[in-house]
Amino acid sequence: MSKDLHARPFDETTIAKLEIFEDYAQAWLPTFVMWGDPVICIFDFFAGTGYDVNGVPGSPIRILKKIREQIAPIFQNKIQVHVYFNEFDKKKFKQLSVACDDFLRDHPEVGRAIKLNLSQEDFDLCFSRLFPVIQAHSSLVYLDQNGIKFLADRYFLELEKTRRTDFLYFVSSSYFWRFGEKEEFKTHVKIDLEEAKRNPYRFIHRTLIAQLRGNLPPNSNLKLYPFSLKKAANVHGIIFGASHIRAVEKFIGIAWKRNEVNGEANFDIDDDNQKIQLDLFEGKKLTKIEIFQKRLHEQVLNGKITSNSHAFDFAMNEGHLGSHAAEELRRMKKDCLIDYDGLSPLVTYENVHKLGKFITYKVLKQ
Ligand SMILES: C[S@@+](CC[C@H](N)C(=O)[O-])C[C@H]1O[C@@H](n2cnc3c(N)ncnc32)[C@H](O)[C@@H]1O
Repeated sequence: MSKDLHARPFDETTIAKLEIFEDYAQAWLPTFVMWGDPVICIFDFFAGTGYDVNGVPGSPIRILKKIREQIAPIFQNKIQVHVYFNEFDKKKFKQLSVACDDFLRDHPEVGRAIKLNLSQEDFDLCFSRLFPVIQAHSSLVYLDQNGIKFLADRYFLELEKTRRTDFLYFVSSSYFWRFGEKEEFKTHVKIDLEEAKRNPYRFIHRTLIAQLRGNLPPNSNLKLYPFSLKKAANVHGIIFGASHIRAVEKFIGIAWKRNEVNGEANFDIDDDNQKIQLDLFEGKKLTKIEIFQKRLHEQVLNGKITSNSHAFDFAMNEGHLGSHAAEELRRMKKDCLIDYDGLSPLVTYENVHKLGKFITYKVLKQ
């Protein structure tokens, strides 16, 4: 992605990133509108200009549009959405202000549903000022930075401490590969580059997140998921973070909808498309979904996964859909390896967490 994202039209990769951002706003808003908190907050700390040079909406306008889609339940539930857009660059900030004014003039109902706070501050100051607000409410936070700088512990680990915050970071992960040895990089984010380089370059974003997970406090509830975005030779990506299982399930659903093969990238990160063919020497290599199902299969047979609740947690921890687990469990029942009541193994958020439907899987044959 270019250094100045707004100097030319948004490219395909930027659009993919923005679509994931807006898909998550679309999933987040109804949940929190129904939750009952009178105030919910959305922060876009690197908001840009509002539109690209061709009038394609950027993150702030996409957020306003998603709020507009939820306008009826917002009014019915008497919720106020506090929206914070920040952009440091003076010229871009002016464009952002005009874009928001125009949007709210065209859609005055959105103006009545939200409290819009625009600021033109350096992120460091803005984040310190607004962090107490993030902490006090159910918050959705976008950090669409250029580069990697603002992934530094002093921001990232602060977000880790919040309990009702979902965040989406953008990170130019390939910078670590290229410049990770430089002192100014090391002062921002502690990444073991030697360790990262043991994996192929295309995994850099995945590897970065694995290391960030390792740097979290031992009792942290925060779950982190990658979505790698390749543009030409560079691999960047989104880091999704949340501590509530509902949020995790939503993001995983969005990621798999975007890529039904790996749920994790805008390219074939694990070469799954090659694995369809039989290798003359090694037989058929397993795809990402098949590897997950094989591991689930083994854990059910060895008694580590005994219920739909375990199977659902396993799927979420591995970044897979409940339906991937359900497909394998149905197959195991058909092959008389396990048995459970009813037709469905019930590996969904609704069954496990909303309806409290609990079933066990009985092993019939090892
Ligand atoms: C990747 S762009 C964000 C694009 C935006 N999400 C959109 O959809 O148009 C990063 C933005 O952060 C702004 N920026 C750069 N350094 C900043 C800082 N220290 N604090 C706040 N904003 C900054 C840049 O001017 C740029 O507009």
